[in-house]
Amino acid sequence: TGLITLDPGFANTGSCKSAITFMDGEKGILRYRGYPIEQLAEHSSFREVAYLLINGELPSKKEITRFSVLLNDHSLVHEDMRTFFANFPRASHPMGILSSMVNALKSFYPYIEGEKEANITVARLISKVRTLAAMSYKISRGHTVVYPRQDLSYCENFLNMMFHSPVRPYKIDPDIVQALSVFLILHADHEQNCSTSAVRLVGSGKVNLYASISAGIAALWGHLHGGANQAVIEMLENIVERGESISRIIERAKDKKDPFRLMGFGHRVYKTYDPRTKIIKSMCDTLLEKLHIHDPLLDIAKELEEIAVNDDYFIENKLYPNIDFYSGIVLRTIGIPTNMFTVMFAIGRLPGWIAQWKESMDDPEWKLNRPRQIYTGYQERNYIPIEER
Ligand code: CMC
Repeated sequence: TGLITLDPGFANTGSCKSAITFMDGEKGILRYRGYPIEQLAEHSSFREVAYLLINGELPSKKEITRFSVLLNDHSLVHEDMRTFFANFPRASHPMGILSSMVNALKSFYPYIEGEKEANITVARLISKVRTLAAMSYKISRGHTVVYPRQDLSYCENFLNMMFHSPVRPYKIDPDIVQALSVFLILHADHEQNCSTSAVRLVGSGKVNLYASISAGIAALWGHLHGGANQAVIEMLENIVERGESISRIIERAKDKKDPFRLMGFGHRVYKTYDPRTKIIKSMCDTLLEKLHIHDPLLDIAKELEEIAVNDDYFIENKLYPNIDFYSGIVLRTIGIPTNMFTVMFAIGRLPGWIAQWKESMDDPEWKLNRPRQIYTGYQERNYIPIEER
């Protein structure tokens, strides 16, 4: 078998070749298909970024119009899926529901992914996951489901499906639409992170797109990965509402005997400021100012950051705030409930997962993913009859 190299957490293992996303963790650089994240966040839309990640180039006018038509055409979900939803226990976490629903899409829409259907499958998935997320929110509250509208953009439709009600019509605010679009763009891809690696690994066994993405959603759920955005807000709420002190939180994060970590801090690749954090942090300020909202959690987050980045422990370990440290403030402002934060991350990451799945399927050097191990168990020993144990 030869010598097997152990690399815990795959920290130094390149699992694939990829032309999608470039990251430089030392310099804090992130680019999708060569375009800096800062430029995309400022000038692009989530729909366009999704197209770019999946197809490799920015779309022409004709291409983006066609993509929009496809997104609109596939925005409804099968009515039978509603009964499927309705039977989940009320307290179910939305990530568990989403992962199951996406897996079930394969049964409701049994397409074979081939050349002709590829774009339709992609549009169907991107459009339906958004509809499913809003639908699950409405059903969890016992409210009437709001259907997608052809005249609204991708982000507008999501907000309308989430917050419109017959008694209180939802007024679409362009600042909120923009904030949502930027949030989604910033989450759209991040090379071989835990959930994307899960999508590729599952897909490498030649599993269909829906099932592979369902695995990605499950991987994203954990609080060391996508679930950190929910964990950050819960941590900040503990400080504001239960009076937990900031210095105690910092001390706990530094105490090796305490499993607690400062949520929203640290990153496997970034050893400097996460470039997405800069964008989302300044968006928190502009959005709250435009909407004339004061969120005490933002003040606490900034105070925490200030203390942490000047603390020797955080400096030595190169721990800086990651995107999840501030993204929850934006989501709260939009009106998204805390237990849906990671679902929002999943909606954003979807184009990245799809692009990476497609790239792996088209890879001429494709191989089933199958890591090895260093065996640490017993050498051969003889079976012991139960009476002798
Ligand atoms: N608070 C306190 N100590 C930390 C933290 C933290 N947030 N993050 C890392 N450390 C320490 C860690 O204990 C370790 O110390 P030592 O070497 O003495 O044992 C050292 O820093 C290196 O950490 P690591 O765990 O070896 O590094 P990693 O690359 O495996 O961890 C991480 C990356 C994101 C899992 C980790 O930083 C963490 O748990 N952060 C908090 C959760 C979080 O914010 N996750 C979101 C990540 S960004 C969005 C996404 O991609 O999902």
